[in-house]
Amino acid sequence: MYEFHKLKIKNIEQETKDAVVWTLDVPEQEKEIFKWKAGQHLTFKYDFNGEELRRSYSILSPTDGDELKVLIKKVDQGRFSEPAQTQYQIGQTVEVMPPIGNFILSPENNSNYVLIAAGSGITPILSMVYEVLNQSNSHVNLYYGNGTVEGTLLKKQLTDLKDKFADRLSVSYFLSREPIDIDLYSGRIDADKINKIYQKELKDLNISGYYLCGPGEMITSVSTALKENGVDTRSIHSEFFLSEDQVIRDSSEKASSTDSGVSVTIDGVTSRYDIKQGDEKTLLDAALDNGINMPYSCKAGVCATCRCKLVEGEVEMIENYSLEDWELEQNYILSCQSIPKTDKIVIDYDS
Ligand code: FES
Repeated sequence: MYEFHKLKIKNIEQETKDAVVWTLDVPEQEKEIFKWKAGQHLTFKYDFNGEELRRSYSILSPTDGDELKVLIKKVDQGRFSEPAQTQYQIGQTVEVMPPIGNFILSPENNSNYVLIAAGSGITPILSMVYEVLNQSNSHVNLYYGNGTVEGTLLKKQLTDLKDKFADRLSVSYFLSREPIDIDLYSGRIDADKINKIYQKELKDLNISGYYLCGPGEMITSVSTALKENGVDTRSIHSEFFLSEDQVIRDSSEKASSTDSGVSVTIDGVTSRYDIKQGDEKTLLDAALDNGINMPYSCKAGVCATCRCKLVEGEVEMIENYSLEDWELEQNYILSCQSIPKTDKIVIDYDS
């Protein structure tokens, strides 16, 4: 499940002047392992001047389609996203881990879903829009913020969906760097706007879930506003995106306070390694140093590619931008952020 596979780029489309959509060619025999759920992402591995780097990009396609597509937006000096715009060619092979991630929407019937995205946060959200519309009879209210009309990603797909599902999909666009007549839609999506929208459009609806994807400040302010309006925390799901190469905090800042023996199970295989007291290493870093191939991408507590279950022992997590409360209650941890606190640690990626 966590192995990398070589896939060819089947098509490259220019989405905006600084974003491309790659379609990946999945061979017939690998179709099953590359099935995805709405909201999941792919992790790419590549070599940059001898250094192995990994980047995750959300899948934007509908789960009942046959096209595996990701959107890659250029980030200044992005070591993958810049070459992805111009240097990669159709037919070229890339190394890709099968779909992963817990920011998932599985829709119920006869309900409503509120989706809120900013910028490239639209990518997993678009897959969720398809999922609700194609797999249920429920409704979607999408609130989508961008700087400019020209820079609005995946607008054509949303317009096509709006034409097809006029009575079940409502899309409200917000622009922060271009004038717009209606005050409510001018500027970034923030707590004030969400308060107004909630009171005007949402408070009387039967809403099964709120799904948020965008920068951290948007997620924090929108989640707070929803909670202040009485929305149950358990119905708010979010994925925070991190600009490529952005490091939130160095996870090696904390040293282990004890000698610890770690046992890890991945794809049915159990391996063991040690972390010494004083080592400034997370469970993930120490495993990689020992040649154990644990899955990861961002190493910053954001993507959840390194999520596993803590079966025994205690750890301290330095940062967590991706696990929800129910996951923490069930002892899921991020190995890229976890420092051991007990002499024995057992973790399991297969649970
Ligand atoms: S590798 Fe991304 S959260 Fe740990």
